Amino acid sequence: MTRTINLTLKVWRQPAAAAKGRFETLHATNISTDMSFLEMLDVVNEQLTLDGKEPIAFDSDCREGICGQCGAVINGHPHGAEKGTTLCQLHMRHFQNGDTIVVEPFRARAFKLHKDLIIDRSPLDQIIQAGGYISVHTGGAPEANTIPISEDRAELAMDAAACIGCGACVAACPNASAMLFVSAKISHLALLPQGRPEAARRALSMVRKMDELCFGNCSNERECEAECPKEISIANIARMNREYIKAGFFSALK
Ligand code: FES
Repeated sequence: MTRTINLTLKVWRQPAAAAKGRFETLHATNISTDMSFLEMLDVVNEQLTLDGKEPIAFDSDCREGICGQCGAVINGHPHGAEKGTTLCQLHMRHFQNGDTIVVEPFRARAFKLHKDLIIDRSPLDQIIQAGGYISVHTGGAPEANTIPISEDRAELAMDAAACIGCGACVAACPNASAMLFVSAKISHLALLPQGRPEAARRALSMVRKMDELCFGNCSNERECEAECPKEISIANIARMNREYIKAGFFSALK
């Protein structure tokens, strides 16, 4: 049943990377429980604009949980406490009238803050540029059954490919590690025959780029898996480590 609720927000405000940030207390009134969290922020921003104040800067694009653009830490959880949910798909029915909600940006060494809740996630793009692709010309789409792939393998590859690169795993990890993200990207290609010819080069260059960009290491905290809006499994990290060790061993023999 649709309700309206009133909330107190403690939102991180920071006009620029070099400026000092602070929490600002704002009020969100008459919020429909059918709204998403971003729609609630739109309502707050409308009021701030009418009052001649600076609206809260935040990222979004698809608002359907598929692009990876949105993201903030809500009461200590990247994308909020609901499992398998992006911020744009987090609905206000999960909050109670009178709640106080703390809203902060994703914080990590490798993510520079631009403004308020907007961070620079381009280090994740740089890791993809280092090898997260297949470089052969594939020509026209082949007949689906010409390359046999077992259902189990196809399912694992599809599960890994669900990663939207939002960076929640990095924000959740006490080491600010990007290993869940990188392992998902390495896995979805390594599991398929089309990705095997470049698997060794890909694993080496993507892991090296991740280290170069100051992301931390994995110490099996599993916070990344718990907070991932696409529920990517840390089994992918084990697969990435196997791919990396194997690639390093054979490149040392050359
Ligand atoms: S806005 Fe695209 S995933 Fe949230």
